[in-house]
Amino acid sequence: MSLTIDQFLKQELERLKTSGLYRDMKRITGHIDTTVSIDGKEVILLSSNNYLGLAFHPKLKEAAASALREYGTGACASRLISGNMEIHEELENKTAKFKGCQSAIVFPTGYMANIGVITSLAGNGDLILSDELNHASIIDGCKLSGAEVRVYPHKNIEKLKEILSQGNASSSKGSYKRMLIVTDGVFSMDGDITPLPEILDVAREEDALVILDDAHATGVLGENGKGTAEHFGLTDENLIHMGTFSKALGSMGGYIAGSKVIIEYLRNNARPFIYSTALPPSVCASSIAAIDILEKEPSIRTRLWRNIARFRKGLTNLGYNTMESQTQIIPILIGDASLTMKFATAIFQKGVYAPGIRPPTVPEGKSRIRTSLMASHTDEQIDKVLAVFESEGRRLHII
Ligand SMILES: Cc1ncc(COP(=O)(O)O)c(C=O)c1O
Repeated sequence: MSLTIDQFLKQELERLKTSGLYRDMKRITGHIDTTVSIDGKEVILLSSNNYLGLAFHPKLKEAAASALREYGTGACASRLISGNMEIHEELENKTAKFKGCQSAIVFPTGYMANIGVITSLAGNGDLILSDELNHASIIDGCKLSGAEVRVYPHKNIEKLKEILSQGNASSSKGSYKRMLIVTDGVFSMDGDITPLPEILDVAREEDALVILDDAHATGVLGENGKGTAEHFGLTDENLIHMGTFSKALGSMGGYIAGSKVIIEYLRNNARPFIYSTALPPSVCASSIAAIDILEKEPSIRTRLWRNIARFRKGLTNLGYNTMESQTQIIPILIGDASLTMKFATAIFQKGVYAPGIRPPTVPEGKSRIRTSLMASHTDEQIDKVLAVFESEGRRLHII
């Protein structure tokens, strides 16, 4: 007899538990700052995407509170019905200007922005090339698009070129109508940076579009925090920028910035935009305030990069392998999955929270502790974390 749905689901959950892949959530009580209280224990938070600490910046809080008082709590309709408020357009104009693009469109989340842009620009008869370490929202967008998807080895330009040139010459279905390259700017589990200049060169040669996911680069990379393109000193009109307000900008929502025609097309085609309620006005207000702060308070970013350098140097001196990380996301390679989880528990008990990351999120043998720095971490906090990593790493024979 076949299993009931309850029996089937319980069996699946049991399977996840016995294979060590069951996911549970840590509960934070009180506010989220550089220290948090998890299960009643005060720990230094080393896993937030609030890289600039803007989520608790007084100007963001005040902007949100004031918009809340003025406009209420929700937009209560899709942008295309009656949810399009002045503040949404103000945020889009500000984002476009910040990214140096003609136009921008905002989505309720970054996840939805990726789904929206990829499924709008690629479909049946098209080819998408996606870096093997791209974020899940890109992977899902590629799957939903109906296009042929080729995953290229991480940052491998030669392979990318080879696939594109084959795609131009012929394919199983003849030449593709359109070819699209999608890449993270800063890779979320490894903290390294995509080779954007080379990708744009190849795209130009092979007449492909490029979507750059700057979720972890916006607010962090480049002289003015504009992201990966600014980091490399590039302005390319054909580049389509995706990003989030939910990480360094301390707010919520995703955006696509690019040419006027692409954004107009997305407004008419991107299903997550059309069929979802618009962002609450208070959230737009805090995103607007965050962009203002990026422009007016560059010292916050300087502080973040100082913290990154202090922490990375400390880890290297202790003998940890931080992989190819170049940014605020610093993985600490352990290798074995169960040792990684043991280490994560040990540092938690000593007052540091950074999650262990195992397969299938990362490849077999590449389990790691994923740490991320904030501008608001103090030197004392970083030094305390390093001391814990030293004592627990030695105790578990990791270093
Ligand atoms: C690279 C990347 N892209 C997109 C997203 C989705 O952004 P959001 O959390 O705003 O939905 C994330 C979030 O984890 C991400 O890491």
